[in-house]
Amino acid sequence: MRVPKIAVVGSLNIDLVMRCERLPSPGETIMTDDVLTVPGGKGANQAVAAARAGGEVSMIGRIGDDAYAPILINNLRQQKVITNQIHMTPLKSSGVAVVAVDSNGQNAIMVSPGSNATLSPEDIDDAADVIRDAELLMIQLETPMETVLHAIQIAKQTDTRTLLDPAPAPSKPTPSNLFSVDFLCPNQSEAAALTGITIRSQEDAFRAAFDLQKRGVQTVMITLAEKGVVLLDNDGPRVIPPLQVKPVDTTAAGDAFAGAFAVRVVESDSTDDAAYFAATAGAMSTTTHGAQPSLPTRKEILENCPTSNQ
Ligand code: RIB
Repeated sequence: MRVPKIAVVGSLNIDLVMRCERLPSPGETIMTDDVLTVPGGKGANQAVAAARAGGEVSMIGRIGDDAYAPILINNLRQQKVITNQIHMTPLKSSGVAVVAVDSNGQNAIMVSPGSNATLSPEDIDDAADVIRDAELLMIQLETPMETVLHAIQIAKQTDTRTLLDPAPAPSKPTPSNLFSVDFLCPNQSEAAALTGITIRSQEDAFRAAFDLQKRGVQTVMITLAEKGVVLLDNDGPRVIPPLQVKPVDTTAAGDAFAGAFAVRVVESDSTDDAAYFAATAGAMSTTTHGAQPSLPTRKEILENCPTSNQ
């Protein structure tokens, strides 16, 4: 079987994960002795998710000039992600995320972008052949907006399809060409931030999806955790039902969804098939702690995917 070629432009972080009974309120200190240091970052997570789902993945990004950098690179190499286009930024720290996870698996994340903020349009030009050679480009919003837009522009010069996970939700007005992507996969709060529509139900999510489609996105998938995925493309609106799981940590569920979707949509050319595969990966990732440690393999996804005939 052919192996989908995926390029990822995005962030690499070290995640300092603390598990606690509940998330702290403003001004409150909560004690926990449950601390993990694991590789994360939305870009790196999605690269690993796509590699485990069966893709040949190249990542374009920037690490810092510190002790975390070799950990981040070696981890990606172990996961068979191609790292030739990940460069070191002198005198900068690597990205760091502080991730708090409560006993229901909900999280709150703070990110210091460090070297991720130095990923430039020139870096994208240097890696343009990798993007052109890929069948699908994955991007998120933990690197500078001008770099993200430049990567989309390079992909659009060829047949490389584009999948944007608009996370974290942009705090500034969004440039309209961000919506020229083929696939957009916001979660509930990101879809609300992009459209101004408060999302409490599938109906609200469909209104947001139509809004995003009007702006130019080909296929919108709004991930709603236990309410499934609201999907809208030229074939109309539909819901991909959730896989029933008991979540212990929702960190990187969106990354698992994006990485698995990227691989499956290239190999099957069916949006619905890819969305079922991706929703399965996203749900499965919530049953294990940590970002990258929780990302399922292709075999695990296929064993649990309701539409899979392997
Ligand atoms: O999507 C989860 C990721 O968000 C974490 O790994 C953390 O690094 C932040 O980027």
